[in-house]
Amino acid sequence: MSEIFEARDWDGAGRIGRLSVPRAGVTVETPTIMPVVNPHIQTIPPRALAERFGAEILITNSYILHGSEDLREDVLDQGLHDLLDFPGAIMTDSGSFQLAEYGEIDVTNEEILNFQREIGSDIATPVDIPTPPDAERETAKSELETTQERLEAAAEFRSEEMLVSAPVQGSVYPELREAAGEHAAGTGLDVFPVGAVVPLMNEYRYGEMIDVVAAAKCGLGPAPPVHLFGAGHPMMFALAVAAGCDLFDSAAYAIYARDGRYLTVRGTEHLSDLDYFPCSCPVCAEHTPKEVENHDETERLLSEHNLYISFGEIRRIKQAIRSGTLLELVESRARGHPAMLDGYRALLSHAEQLERTDPASKSTFFYLSGESAHRPEVLRHHRRLERLSLPESVLLATNSTHSSVHTEEIWTVRPPFGPIPPELSETYPANAEIPDRLDTEAYEMGARGVASLASTHPDCEITLAVEGWPESALAILPESIARI
Ligand code: GUN
Ligand code: ZN
Repeated sequence: MSEIFEARDWDGAGRIGRLSVPRAGVTVETPTIMPVVNPHIQTIPPRALAERFGAEILITNSYILHGSEDLREDVLDQGLHDLLDFPGAIMTDSGSFQLAEYGEIDVTNEEILNFQREIGSDIATPVDIPTPPDAERETAKSELETTQERLEAAAEFRSEEMLVSAPVQGSVYPELREAAGEHAAGTGLDVFPVGAVVPLMNEYRYGEMIDVVAAAKCGLGPAPPVHLFGAGHPMMFALAVAAGCDLFDSAAYAIYARDGRYLTVRGTEHLSDLDYFPCSCPVCAEHTPKEVENHDETERLLSEHNLYISFGEIRRIKQAIRSGTLLELVESRARGHPAMLDGYRALLSHAEQLERTDPASKSTFFYLSGESAHRPEVLRHHRRLERLSLPESVLLATNSTHSSVHTEEIWTVRPPFGPIPPELSETYPANAEIPDRLDTEAYEMGARGVASLASTHPDCEITLAVEGWPESALAILPESIARI
């Protein structure tokens, strides 16, 4: 399975990876977006996607090609790469999305997999069943069984040349998503799309989307490459990458452009509402919004901007992973839209899972909001406290020069980390940049650190010397802790 994917730098569950795609003879750097190419209408030619925007992989729909009187014979004769004229890797979808939209499709799993092989797809997809979010559990379970049979059948089509994806379904039921992830990883297939999240994203249910991804990842484990099926809005790339998604497929750049929508990393604007462009891509640098609106190629220009902004965000995310600042980036994206804040909070509710792949040391931790108190680094620090050996007594003081009259050991106490032994005070994450005007969550988390130190070291006499902690934080401290 995963010799084709290698993850190098990590941040949270996010990583920079290399996906080797044998038939195309290319290695794709992840995270990345696969622009969706509609073989019938394409305002930006695939070659330009590669040469101007840097797309290393794209995705198209084999079901549309299979059903097309114009293109079916051509693609069988010429092959997909020549037909589209694209030098990188090409993934194909199977018609499952049409199945979800229209209730039926006129090919079998085996037929469409065979067709994908014949046209020279690099990564084929079986006909999974995208069970929508609000389905009954029983429906989700029985449809998942069908999906699982289709993945097993798809394993027969996998070869040295053609990779095969294994979509993970299970609606919004975490135990089904987890079981689906575990099963998919066991099939020996190559790339793992988390499916049926489009309805969640269309309704801005980013919190639930992250729960679904976390459950699927829990079953898949951290090693394999994960694709978030149908995700193409740049506002959510950083969040999804931090949750462990490596590939996105964007039709949004084209679909939004069709009705005058302009993508930004904070959301979507209507071209007609803009007086200024908040972007310096070639389109925005060379035109005013009015000029784009009155242009005879408005749709192409908007698609181009949408792609520039999307690939720009991907590069920013990769740099953030390298610099160890991905969670700060997610945090700033979470400030762009309330639904993104839900997504970020959901992500942090899985801090335990993120912590497993989060590097022990990064550049300075920036405390930016109450959410920062719930980051995996804080959780790890609290765990670490449990394992430390303590003297008979310790003074925890805001400032370690606090009380030289005390002969006992003095540790600093710093929200949101809580107690910090001297040997850790200059290291990540305890050397964090923290604002002077802290929120209640930082103090409460700090108090939890103190409480967990106390509960794991019942024989140590702990004294706490702090000023200005709110009642809600002090209430977390056990009775056994003396306060001065
Ligand atoms: N495109 C968007 N969502 C899905 C999905 O769940 N499965 C497949 N095959 N394609 C999709
Ligand atoms: Zn632009």
